[in-house]
Amino acid sequence: MDRIRSNSPCWCANGAKYKRCHGDRRLLQRARVAIGSVSPPRPVPDHITRPDYISTGAVGTPRTWQIQDDESLERLRHACQVAAEVLLVAGQAVAPGTTTDEIDAIAHAAYVERGAYPSDLRYHGFTKSICTSVNGVVCHGVPDDRRLQEGDIVNIDVTAFVDGMHGDTSATFAVGAIDEPTRGLVETTREATLRGIAAVAAGEPLRRIGEAIEPFARSRGFSVVRTYGGHGIGQTFHAAPHIYHHVERGDDDLFQTGMSFTVEPMLLSGGTSFTQAADGWTEHTDDAMPSAQFEHTVVVTPTGAEILTITADGRTAVGAPATGSARLPA
Ligand code: MF3
Ligand code: CO
Ligand code: CO
Repeated sequence: MDRIRSNSPCWCANGAKYKRCHGDRRLLQRARVAIGSVSPPRPVPDHITRPDYISTGAVGTPRTWQIQDDESLERLRHACQVAAEVLLVAGQAVAPGTTTDEIDAIAHAAYVERGAYPSDLRYHGFTKSICTSVNGVVCHGVPDDRRLQEGDIVNIDVTAFVDGMHGDTSATFAVGAIDEPTRGLVETTREATLRGIAAVAAGEPLRRIGEAIEPFARSRGFSVVRTYGGHGIGQTFHAAPHIYHHVERGDDDLFQTGMSFTVEPMLLSGGTSFTQAADGWTEHTDDAMPSAQFEHTVVVTPTGAEILTITADGRTAVGAPATGSARLPA
């Protein structure tokens, strides 16, 4: 499907032109997010097991896929449940006036209470326990002393390491009341993530995910980030395969039952160029237009995909598809 045009009727079907409705760029426009000061890394009690890269300093991105058996899947499910819980706890702290560092502290305590190590902490030198990406920050925002403001959006990305497994999930939260075009960006990204997951089927090519996500995003006037993708996950934080969220024609590798990976599209409301800040992490859109992201860790089943980053009682800040092959854990 082609990108919606500014003079077309809005995708929300209320009759207005797109440019005067969900495509109103004056409402989407934000001031560039200024990077604040970053507090020291938070300590993790000694009894909590660290991933290998903490002692070796070396982070591998193995080319092997992460394929789970019954035993390892049980452990991955637990790590993912913890990640889903930490994300819900962190999301409850989002409010005007709260700093992203305060949210990092709350998330950090939530990991530790559950016996989990925050996988981000000291990963390639990252010094915080979550990523917090506000407005035009596409990803990898570092929690700092900036106060969230009414009308902001913030993605919180949580990765928990427990029982030898990493579980990775993120959601974009509204800070107080947000305008309708920004809400459209957030809800389209949530739905795009779930549509991508619903397209997973053993024996089908990996590109089914991008085929489900990119045309949908474009039909609502958004672009999909191409330089970051999902990744195999489990015993390793970031492993093969790379999961494209855009249509990548040559991506013919097939989904296999038991493979575990993330689906985590980032959608852009403005131009597609973004630049890494001097901190070596924060990715800012060059035009400061907001972007949103959601992420689940999933495993391929004989009938589709199972979302793993959901609490034992079925809660998630991301959402789960109403239709399609993806199902909730039994
Ligand atoms: N959780 C991110 C992902 O989805 C990775 C964060 S790595 C960090 O893959 F070092 F920035 F924390
Ligand atoms: Co991820
Ligand atoms: Co993540």
